[in-house]
Amino acid sequence: TRRVTVHDVTAATERGEKWPMLTAYDAMTASVFDEAGIPVMLVGDSMGNCHLGYETTVPVTMDEMTMLSAAVVRGTKRALIVADLPFGAYQEGPVQALRNATRLVKDAGVGAVKLEGGERSHEQIRLLVEAGIPVMGHIGLTPQSVNAMGYRVQGRGEEAAQQLLRDAKAVQDAGAFAVVLELVPAELAAEVTRTLHIPTVGIGAGPDTDAQVLVWTDMAGLTGGKVPRFSKQYANLRQVLGDAARTYAEEVVGGTFPQPEHTFH
Ligand code: KIV
Ligand code: NA
Repeated sequence: TRRVTVHDVTAATERGEKWPMLTAYDAMTASVFDEAGIPVMLVGDSMGNCHLGYETTVPVTMDEMTMLSAAVVRGTKRALIVADLPFGAYQEGPVQALRNATRLVKDAGVGAVKLEGGERSHEQIRLLVEAGIPVMGHIGLTPQSVNAMGYRVQGRGEEAAQQLLRDAKAVQDAGAFAVVLELVPAELAAEVTRTLHIPTVGIGAGPDTDAQVLVWTDMAGLTGGKVPRFSKQYANLRQVLGDAARTYAEEVVGGTFPQPEHTFH
C-alpha cells in the first residue's frame, strides 16, 4: 500500500468526493485511524491543549511537533500526514518557515505542513511550495493568534467576509494544495469553496466545504470539560477509559486481579 498524496486528495475533490481529516498525536491512535481508512491526518498544534496539557496552542515547540509527527508517521501506512508549523516557527519570514518545515519533512517524515494566515503568510507558503513541500493553509479562526483575536466566529460582516475571501485567494495563489476554514459562517465557507479550485477543509464552517476536520479527542469524547459546538461526539472514550481504570483498581484492591491465566510459574 502506498500513502495518500496531496494529488489524491485534490483529485477526490475534483471528482466531487468529500473527504475526512482527523488530528492524531501518537502512533497508536494514528494506527487506529489508519486502519479505519481516514485518508488524511493532521498532527495539529492542538496537541498543546489535547495532549501536552497547555492552555492554548501558543507554547507548542518545534521539538514537540517533530517528535509527535514522527510517531504518527511511524504508526501509519496509508494516510497523508500533515504537520502544523507551531507558533513562532514561521512568523519571522519565509526562510525560517522553510527551515522548520524542512525539519518536519526530513526528521519526522510528514507529507505536508500547515500554517496559519492568509495574506500575512503568503510569502512563507510560496517559498515552501517552491522548495517542494506541500502546504495546507489555515484561515478564519487561527488559534495561534488567540491573544489578539480570542475564540469567536470569523468573517462576520461584509468587510470581514471580503478579507476572508482575499486571504483564501492569497493562500491558493501562493500554491497551497488545500486550506482549512475554521469557525466561519457556513454561507461564507460555501462562497470560499465555490471561489477556490483547491479543496477547502472545514471545522465549524458548515456542510459545504470540500472536506471536514475534527480534533480527535473531541470527536471521540475523550476531552474533559467543554467541547466546541461545531464538534460532534461519536464515542465516549472518557467514560470507557475511566470505567476500565476504575474496574482495574477495584480488582487490584479486592485481590481478584491477576487470575491464574495472567500468572506464570
Ligand atoms: O491544530 C489543529 O487541530 C488544527 C485543526 C483544528 C484544523 O489546526
Ligand atoms: Na492547528
